[in-house]
Amino acid sequence: MVRIGSYTLASPVILAPMAGVTDRPFRQLCRELGAGLVVSEMVTSDVSLWNTRKSRLRMDHAGEEEPRSVQIAGGDPEMLAEAARLNAEHGAQIIDINMGCPAKKVCNKAAGSALLKDEKLVSEILEAVVGAVDIPVTLKIRTGWNPENRNGVTIARIAEDAGITALAVHGRTRADAYKGNAEYDTIADIKQAISIPVFANGDITSPEKARYVMDYTGADAVMIGRGAQGRPWIFKQISHYLATGEQLPEPEDLTKYEILSRHLNALYAFYGELMGVRIARKHVNWYLGTQESGSHFRRYFNQLDQPEAQQAAIRSFILEPGQLNHLMTPAAETVL
Ligand SMILES: Cc1cc2nc3c(=O)[nH]c(=O)nc-3n(C[C@H](O)[C@H](O)[C@H](O)COP(=O)(O)O)c2cc1C
Repeated sequence: MVRIGSYTLASPVILAPMAGVTDRPFRQLCRELGAGLVVSEMVTSDVSLWNTRKSRLRMDHAGEEEPRSVQIAGGDPEMLAEAARLNAEHGAQIIDINMGCPAKKVCNKAAGSALLKDEKLVSEILEAVVGAVDIPVTLKIRTGWNPENRNGVTIARIAEDAGITALAVHGRTRADAYKGNAEYDTIADIKQAISIPVFANGDITSPEKARYVMDYTGADAVMIGRGAQGRPWIFKQISHYLATGEQLPEPEDLTKYEILSRHLNALYAFYGELMGVRIARKHVNWYLGTQESGSHFRRYFNQLDQPEAQQAAIRSFILEPGQLNHLMTPAAETVL
């Protein structure tokens, strides 16, 4: 049983924060499908930038199950402390600090994983944020800033000393970006060095890999990012396998259709139809990435701009493939 402050996670399989992916509709879907914890997309610590539609949507947690974990990103201890306080007032129940993201926009301001280079600043940030709120604060890191400087164990000790309640570790350095394979030796070393819960992250895309990484690192939980794109049911599959050693079968087409259809409706409701339809394309493309014969359909789907048309298209693609040609009108076929 993994505990974060007073919260006990129902399963040791966690959805990784992903900007542009882990919005409220996707988080809610992953929770329903077995994720023990979901983490929001990062919110900048610069509160002067919060008055945009994007930031407001990122901070909308209406109807979300507990515990609601909100990730903040930035490089200044006081700004991060203030951002943590305000997010707690807006309903966050866990604050997660991003020291794992290689994104330029964040790193140009010495934030995200670039902070790992400056251990003193890491310590100041963690102490400031932990001191600012009375809810648990978690931290997400990479194993270091480049392969020659894997200081993950030092950072982990700093985190534990500062009162961080759980640590997620992506098994790559900042310099690795997303190249090569994640390595789990540093995660195992970190687990040995501290006594707060450790979440292993990086390239976990199947129940067997999750079991392997848990055993190899001794981690308390696994965190899944890209492996959940287009496959939110992966949480149930991994949780079940970790608990029983048995594989769940792939969901039936009807179940997949129902999940995807519900996901799209949630996107239209959350973002409004115009934006919801655009965001739906990305998720449907990921979903199709797991299917054969998706590429024609993808081109057809990407030019649909109405919720009803998107819904009819996924229904035909998944449940009535024979109807697809009929659905792809001559006008649409010219796009193919
Ligand atoms: C599209 C995308 C967006 C991401 N955004 C964030 C983010 O906002 N904060 C963060 O800490 N990590 C972010 N990450 C990193 C993931 O949380 C995770 O550490 C990484 O993808 C490795 O895990 P995986 O192999 O399971 O995908 C992002 C990754 C992706 C692919």
